Formats: sequence, structure tokens, C-alpha cells
Amino acid sequence: MKAKWVLVVRALIIGLTILVLGEAVLAKDIANVPHRGASGHAPEHTIVSYQLGEKMHGDYIEVDLQMTKDGQLIAMHDCTVDRTTNGTGFVNEMTLAEMKELDAGSWFNEQYPQYASPEYKGVRVPTLEEVFQTFGKNKRYYIETKSPEVYPGMETELLRLVNKYKINKDTLLVESFSPESLISIKKLDSSIKLVQLLKYQSNAVITDEEIDEIKDYAIGIGPNHHYLNEDYVQKVVSSGLELHPYTVNEKGRMKQLINWGVTGIFTNFPDLLHSVKKVR
Ligand code: G3P
Ligand code: CA
Repeated sequence: MKAKWVLVVRALIIGLTILVLGEAVLAKDIANVPHRGASGHAPEHTIVSYQLGEKMHGDYIEVDLQMTKDGQLIAMHDCTVDRTTNGTGFVNEMTLAEMKELDAGSWFNEQYPQYASPEYKGVRVPTLEEVFQTFGKNKRYYIETKSPEVYPGMETELLRLVNKYKINKDTLLVESFSPESLISIKKLDSSIKLVQLLKYQSNAVITDEEIDEIKDYAIGIGPNHHYLNEDYVQKVVSSGLELHPYTVNEKGRMKQLINWGVTGIFTNFPDLLHSVKKVR
């Protein structure tokens, strides 16, 4: 009788251990994508925000691309410089030299005094080349072609720089809201891994046909997280696609999405996501 209870207790311990380790291993595999760098802590799309993202256990450097009047790819989310510099105007109406005169950090200190730092004052808008030169070829990059319709040739220039700096294509991810932009990259270089960004306005639903269509050219989906539900997450992930919702900055939602099965998360606070992922 005693031997039987020992066996039962032993089985329970083994089962519990597998459950805990399994969950911990799963959580550890979640890609931590610092959104525009650690943009909750530092001015977005600057070298310092990317460096902070690395320090805070981020797995990628996420760069939104815009293009200057003289054809230079720069890191910036908006088509204009007004929100994230002390300048004004459209990126495609400015030369790189004019862009480099702008202060891309002081706005952050004014807007987020709780995260302000003297080192942010006067930081410059980086070019994609400078990002590659700073972090090297083996860093994991997550690069978005922003408004590609505004910048004909953006995809060709992106791949030129990827090849010039011998960026590791096994870990590079290129993302876009534009399927056309992603498909044009696929045609230029089929080895590049692509992520289709999506923006839902209500409860997220996706059909088998939509999944199959995306699987034709992409390895994953990056939807806004607000309208995601467990069914959606399970359907996308069980289809074999990666699922990287954006932009998740709240601990409880991070946990919920990880429990539902997402395979990565864009966050302004990579330090927070790291703490959620750690073995509990
Ligand atoms: O690239 C994922 C996410 O950043 C897309 O939204 O507008 O922040 O670039 P946005
Ligand atoms: Ca982005």
C-alpha cells in the first residue's frame, strides 16, 4: 500500500515539474522585440534606445524605415520629423545633411521627465547604415518598410545595405503593413523572412484563406494586440505562423498573450517583458 502512494506522489512531482519547466521553456522562447528600441525608456529610433533595448534583454533591434530626399534610409516612425525632433516637415523633402542637424532626443526629456536623461539631449536621427555599423551583422534586426508607397525603391535600397553589411539573413525579419512591399522583397531575395503587419479595428478574426495567403510569402503575422483573443492566437500559431502582437506594455496582458501561445511581443518596455518571461 505504502509503495503505491510513493509511486503516486512521484508521478505527481514529475508531472508538476514538466508543467512548470514546460511553461518556463515556452515563456523563454517568446521573442522580446523592443518597439522602436526601448522606447518607453529612451527616445524612439535612436542608437541609445536600441542599446537600451539590448541591455534590457531585447532579442531584436526594431527599425522603422523612412527615406530622405537624397535616398538615404533613416530610422523614424513618422513620415514627418515634427513629433520626434525639434524640426518640422516631411522626411522625403529633407536631405540627410538637414536631418542630421535635428535634435531627436530633447522632446523625450520634455514629454517623459520621469525617464529623462541628459544623454538624450541632442541625439541624432540614425541612418540604417549607422545602425548596422553600430550593432554589426549578427544582431537580430526587425526592419519595417514604412509607407513604401511614398518611397519607391525602398526595398531595393534596404537589401543593398543588408548585403553590403552582410547582415545575417537567418535572423533578419522584415515587416510591413504593405503585402506588396513584402512580396517585392520576396522577389528580390526569397531568403528574407517576412512578417505581415495587421491592424484590427474590432474583435480579431482570420480565415483559413487569409492564413494560406499570408503563408505564401511570410513566416509570421504582427497584429495590434488590442482585439486579439485566444481562438485567434491558437488558430494562427497552430497554422505554423509566428505571431508577434504589438505594442504590449502591460504585465497582465503580456502574461495572457504568452499563455494563449503568442511567439513574440513588441513592447516599449523589454525589461518588463523579460521579467514576465523569467522562470516563475
Ligand atoms: O512594427 C510593429 C509595430 O511597430 C507596428 O506599428 O506604427 O508602431 O510601427 P507601428
Ligand atoms: Ca514598427
